[in-house]
Amino acid sequence: MSSCCEPQGYDRVFTAGVARRDAARYRRSGLTRDPRRVVELYRSGAIDGESVLDVGAGIGDLGLELLRAGASHVTAVDLSPGYDDAAATLLAEAGLAGRVQRAVGDLAARPDLAAPADVVALMKVVCCYADADRLLTVAAGHARRHLVLSYPRDTWWLRLFARATTVAARWRRTDWGFVVHPERALLAALEREGLHLTHRERTGAFTLAVLTRTRV
Ligand SMILES: C[S@@+](CC[C@H](N)C(=O)[O-])C[C@H]1O[C@@H](n2cnc3c(N)ncnc32)[C@H](O)[C@@H]1O
Repeated sequence: MSSCCEPQGYDRVFTAGVARRDAARYRRSGLTRDPRRVVELYRSGAIDGESVLDVGAGIGDLGLELLRAGASHVTAVDLSPGYDDAAATLLAEAGLAGRVQRAVGDLAARPDLAAPADVVALMKVVCCYADADRLLTVAAGHARRHLVLSYPRDTWWLRLFARATTVAARWRRTDWGFVVHPERALLAALEREGLHLTHRERTGAFTLAVLTRTRV
């Protein structure tokens, strides 16, 4: 159930149709670039037995692949219920249903939606949320060991794209908008919560960053 303080209308953008297309793409060609890099970073037993919280999980494909790489279980949270059916089908096909829990809602507004996990992932999520500081503060509070996130690079053409998508989103009566947050502000929010940058790389128009807990 959504609360009064959660952004509305994400289900008009991240619909069941989008989810079906994402699931078809995943069946055809596997993970997209940023999640694929995350799985590569955790290969060779680096995630054995660890729990994962995937925030803004979409169809949950990253979680599935991290389970295959050795993670113990996954909690997937997403603001849109549009992904639920496609995610459940993929889970059943993979025979991993007992190892994933799903919740619908805004983790920033409802931190209790998920328990802390060893690894917290936010792939292309802060760019879909206006109050990145609040979302990352809550996500960092859930990260026992690592937090991995990808976010758009701060370029003029991505800022232009962001403005166009936000105008279009108003027509669709949704609070969703594509936002290019300054990298400095994103990393500062995480460092304030005891995480520090241990890996960063460019992935096309996005940056992938891994932060590691230095204090509790
Ligand atoms: C662009 S999609 C990315 C989905 C997936 N992570 C991927 O890489 O394919 C962003 C997702 O983040 C979700 N989202 C944005 N802010 C969120 C929040 N505060 N709590 C939970 N989900 C959120 C949206 O509903 C959307 O499904």
